[in-house]
Amino acid sequence: MSAVSFSGLDLLTTAVAILDGNLKVIYLNPAAETVFALSLRNVVGHPFAELFVDGRTFGQRLSQALAEVRGFVDQELTLTRPGYEPLHLNCVVTPVDMNTAALLIEFRHIEQQLRIERETQRLTQHEANRELIRNLAHEIKNPLGGIRGSAQLLERELDRADLCEYTQVIIKEADRLQVLMDRLLTPHRRPQVGTVNIHEVCERVRTLILAEFPEGIQIMRDYDTSLPDLHGDREQLIQAVLNVVRNAAQAMNGRGTIELRTRVARQVTLAKMRHKLALELQVMDNGPGIPEAIRDRVFYPLVSGREGGSGLGLTLAQTFVQHHHGAIEVESEPGRTCFHIMLPLQ
Ligand SMILES: Nc1ncnc2c1ncn2[C@@H]1O[C@H](COP(=O)(O)OP(=O)(O)O)[C@@H](O)[C@H]1O
Ligand SMILES: [Mg+2]
Repeated sequence: MSAVSFSGLDLLTTAVAILDGNLKVIYLNPAAETVFALSLRNVVGHPFAELFVDGRTFGQRLSQALAEVRGFVDQELTLTRPGYEPLHLNCVVTPVDMNTAALLIEFRHIEQQLRIERETQRLTQHEANRELIRNLAHEIKNPLGGIRGSAQLLERELDRADLCEYTQVIIKEADRLQVLMDRLLTPHRRPQVGTVNIHEVCERVRTLILAEFPEGIQIMRDYDTSLPDLHGDREQLIQAVLNVVRNAAQAMNGRGTIELRTRVARQVTLAKMRHKLALELQVMDNGPGIPEAIRDRVFYPLVSGREGGSGLGLTLAQTFVQHHHGAIEVESEPGRTCFHIMLPLQ
């Protein structure tokens, strides 16, 4: 039997195996070859379960799935290749009916699962932090009006002009704090939900950024135009993407290439919810990367690596993405930074 190509699956980071009606291997994607330390060429036509010293029970469950045409999920699967450490996996088995293909199996390392859980935990922590900051900002805002007003009254009573310098400092600083507090108290505008096309959002952001950085910034596009529209607030999404892209342009000092890429994502867990279909927008740049000192905290309010930065851009972007039940993550190293914005489509 020769190997079949399922070219779309070749690029997935999730390990995928496709078996025929006799539970023999038809296809493994490169991620599966890596996870199982197998080469598709060597195992094509072999019964999948027999590749593992402890694959018997799993094999029986696969037969059952096939017989009943019913998929299953196993959150705690252990499979061991002869001579290797046991692999702790989470798998999703789906019956398919496509030429000789009968079962499609996706595997994920449990570590990957743990990462998602850690991510969720961090989200909860973020929410608590944000709540704290909101309350604090309110408490600071309230007396600011009084301070500013009193300084103005005082100024009117002053008969020496040089003393007004001091009241001016009070007024100006109160104004500056006021602006900062307003930005900390993320807008309470009612979300305006409608259908939004992610590519329209990207194009709008692209236009705005090219206008802001007329020389030196290039924005490349790699869109999957088959992506359906999503439900959401267009302005919020524009703002979220704009903040991310603007950071990239700023980090590169206005010179460099940014790439916007959209892709379909299937079976993803976002903010504790599992979604069949989602979209992923990647914003990539080839700038210096996020300074290591703040890499773990860039989404926190007031964390900035930039002179004059407010440290609110990414906080706001994250808030807006979360309003859409999505998630935003970043990978960054010198020379390559990639923000992933995931938004559910159903
Ligand atoms: N693409 C990127 N490349 C390098 N650093 C980045 C990038 N995006 C964000 N950062 C870092 O994250 C920090 C926080 O960003 P943000 O929350 O938008 O606040 P601000 O832009 O006001 O500093 C930035 O100051 C910058 O140091
Ligand atoms: Mg910013």
